[in-house]
Amino acid sequence: MYCTRKVNEDITWVGGDDRRLVLFEGVYSIPDGVSYNSYLILDEKTILFDTVDKAIGKVFFENVEHVLSGRKLDYVVVQHMEPDHSATLMDLLCHYPEVKVVCNQKTKTMIEQFFGEDIGERAYLVKEGDTLSTGKHEFQFVFAPMVHWPEVMFTFDKTDRVLFSADAFGTFGALNGSLFADEIDFYGEYMPDARRYYANIIGKYGPQVQSALKKVSALDIAMICPLHGPVHRRDFDKYIEKYRLWSSYTPEETGVMIAYASIYGNTANAAQILACRLFDAGIKVRMFDVSVDPASKIVSAAFRMSHLVFAASTYNAGVFITMEEVLRDLVLHNIQNRTVAFIENGTWAPASGKLMRDMLAGQKNMTFLESAITIRSSLKESQSDEMDALVSAISATISRPEIVDVPKGEIEPAALFTISYGLFVLTAREGEKDNGSIINTVTQISSAPKRISISVSKGSLTHDMVLRTGVFNISVLTEASKFDLYERFGLQSGRDAEKFEDFLPCERSANGLMYVTENVNALMSCKVISAVDYGSHTLFVADLTEAKKLSGEPSVTYDYYRKNIKPRPSEKAKKKKGWLCTVCGYIYEGEVLPPDFICPICKHGVEVFVPLDQA
Ligand code: FEO
Repeated sequence: MYCTRKVNEDITWVGGDDRRLVLFEGVYSIPDGVSYNSYLILDEKTILFDTVDKAIGKVFFENVEHVLSGRKLDYVVVQHMEPDHSATLMDLLCHYPEVKVVCNQKTKTMIEQFFGEDIGERAYLVKEGDTLSTGKHEFQFVFAPMVHWPEVMFTFDKTDRVLFSADAFGTFGALNGSLFADEIDFYGEYMPDARRYYANIIGKYGPQVQSALKKVSALDIAMICPLHGPVHRRDFDKYIEKYRLWSSYTPEETGVMIAYASIYGNTANAAQILACRLFDAGIKVRMFDVSVDPASKIVSAAFRMSHLVFAASTYNAGVFITMEEVLRDLVLHNIQNRTVAFIENGTWAPASGKLMRDMLAGQKNMTFLESAITIRSSLKESQSDEMDALVSAISATISRPEIVDVPKGEIEPAALFTISYGLFVLTAREGEKDNGSIINTVTQISSAPKRISISVSKGSLTHDMVLRTGVFNISVLTEASKFDLYERFGLQSGRDAEKFEDFLPCERSANGLMYVTENVNALMSCKVISAVDYGSHTLFVADLTEAKKLSGEPSVTYDYYRKNIKPRPSEKAKKKKGWLCTVCGYIYEGEVLPPDFICPICKHGVEVFVPLDQA
C-alpha cells in the first residue's frame, strides 16, 4: 500500500526508507538506513522530482499512482543520474508513456549509458537558468556540477520558494515516519550522519559545492527538499553554514582527532596516553581505531577537527594496512587546512611516520608538527617527555590566549554577589528515593540543541544522584518563595531526611522526577551529556527533555533572596566577631574564616560568607 507525506499543499513526498542496505554505494555503513526521496507536484501539469533506488521501487510506484489519482504524469525531472535516484527511471517511463524527461545533455548521455537506449524525443532538455512552467508553479534549473556527479542540477520552485537540492543537504539515516528536520532532533541525532554523508560522498568537491552555494545564496529559499534525509523548512541557515565550512575545508571544531593502527596494542597505548594528556591540557579529543572504526567515520571526523594525529605500526616496511587505506581515503577526499602529527612504531625498522607524512605531503595547507614520536615496540616511561613535547606542540598551535603569570589581586567574595544568580530547586530520583537541593547556578548555554549547565556542590546527595542517574529537574523559584522551602531543600541533607515527605506542592514530570509547583515559574527536565569535576563542584551540561512555564511571577535572584527572604541576623549577633553564611544564615564565630571552611548547614564554601559586621 502507498505511504506518502504532504510537503505542502501541492508537493507530496513519494519516496521511501531502506533499512536493509548494509553498505551505501557498497562502501559506507548505514546502520540507521537511508531514505530515497522523490517529490510529486500536482499542478495544471504534474511533475515528479527524481525516481528512487530499486530497493523501494514497489512502494514508490504505489505512491506515485496514489497521488496522481488517475491523472497522467507530465514530467519527471532527473536531477541526478546516480542509480540510487534513477534506477527506476525506465520502469517509470513504461508506466507513464507520455511523461517527458526533464534533464540536461549530460544526463541524457548518462541515461543512454546506464540503460542502453536513447530516450530521444522524450527528453526535455534544459540549460542553466532555464525555466519550466506547470501552471501555478514555475521551476528554474540551477546547475550544480560535481555535487556529486557532473550532470547534477538543482531546481528552484519560484512559486513556493522550494529548492530541490539533489544530493546536497542530504544525509544518511532513514526518515522513520518523520519528514521535516524540525520534527526531529536533526542537529543532535542526524548531524553526525549528515557530516559523514557530506565528507564521504561530496567532500572531494569543495570548490564545486562553493560554486553551488553561491548560486543558492541568490535564491529566496523557504524550504530545501534533498534526495536523502529530512526536508528543511526552518532554521536551515545553520545547515548551509555547515556546508560553507565543510566545502572550504575549514575545521568545525578546535581539537584533535587521533586515528591509530595497532597490531598488539602498543601503538594504541601510546595513542591513549596522548589522548589523556591532551585532555588534561584542556584539548578536545576524538579517537578511532582504524582497524575497527569504519573509514567513513574517520574521514568525517577529519573534516570536523582542526588537528589530526596518526599513529601506526610499520608493516612490511610500509604503513600498517588499515592506516594506509584511511590515509589514501583522506587524500582522495581532498583533506586540507589541518595541523598534523604522527606516532610511528617499529620493532626493528620504524618507517611509518615518514611514510604517513609522505602520503599527506601533497595536500593543501597542511602544517606538520616536528614533534613526532618513534616507538620501538612499546612506549617507555623514558619517552614521557617526548609525549609531553607533542602535547605542547599541539597545544601551541591551538589558538587561544596564553594564560601565564597573570598578576593577581585580592578576591573579594562580595564581588561575586553582583552576578545575577537565580535560585532553583534541583531534584533527582534514584531507585525509590526522591531528593532535592537548592542551587544558584543554572545557565542556558545553547539554543540548538537546547542545553543548560548547572554547577552542583559535591557535598550534596542530589549531586551524587544526578551523577549516577544522569537525569534531573530544575524548578525555577520566584520572589514569592518562602524561607521554609529553602530550609527544607537547602539546609538539611537528603542523607538524613526525606525532603519530599509531607511536601504537597509538587508533581512528577514526564521523566518521573519530582518538581516543585508552588512559587515556581518554570520546570526544566534535563538529561546529562557531560559532567566535569571542578573541585568543590561538578559542572553538569545537559539537554532539555521537557520545559514548561508555570507562572508569570518574576524569578527570584540570589540578591533578592538575601535581602528579602533569608532571615537577617539579629543586631546582637552582628556585634559578634564572625562570618555569616549568606545562603543559610549560619554564623562562624572567629576573626579568620579558614580558607577551606565548608558551611556545616548548607555545605557552601567560604565564597558565600561575609563578615558579620557587613551582613
Ligand atoms: Fe544520492 Fe549521488 O546519489
